[in-house]
Amino acid sequence: MDSSHVENDLVNVLFTEEQIQARLKELARDIERDYEGEDLLIVGVLRGAVMVMADIARSLSRHVEMDWMAVSSYGSGTKSSGVVRILKDLDTDISGRHVVVVDEIIDTGLTLSWLTSNLSSRNPASVEICTLLRKPEALQMPVDVKYVGWDIPNEFVVGYGLDYKERYRNLRDIGTLAPHVYS
Ligand code: PRP
Repeated sequence: MDSSHVENDLVNVLFTEEQIQARLKELARDIERDYEGEDLLIVGVLRGAVMVMADIARSLSRHVEMDWMAVSSYGSGTKSSGVVRILKDLDTDISGRHVVVVDEIIDTGLTLSWLTSNLSSRNPASVEICTLLRKPEALQMPVDVKYVGWDIPNEFVVGYGLDYKERYRNLRDIGTLAPHVYS
């Protein structure tokens, strides 16, 4: 669906499908340049990263291996607690491999900080992060991000994998959720 299907739920459209695709192509060019001649594994963090993974992988003009992790933060509501457990681990042994973790958003930074530290302990050749969005004002933990689509204000955004109570993930655009939806 696109934003016209949920326009009463959105304050604004932050990024259109076209803008997202164009930015992902730029990030894909950066990744191709940085890993030229190297084996590369991209790891998507379920569930929100499905769209970014699918589109960035197809934007790459080279082979790339794909794997997935599912993690869960304890706690409820819209805040991350920082306590993470693995619900689904990699099927791949990343020892000696170049890994790029792909996610759709870094909010507090707690999830990816924990995840990169976990993956680094498995002796990969390298671990880097690619995120479509990042909220600098929400960061509670420094996270070294190599590829970032856009920095955004600390607002509740949905679409393109980002959900509110499992809705809006299949929205093609990214928009700011209207407070009346979640208050
Ligand atoms: C989102 C996102 C990141 C995490 C970022 O996942 O995919 O993994 O939150 O938040 P943080 O920087 O505050 O840790 P979420 O827990 O919403 O799960 P989902 O991908 O299944 O929607």
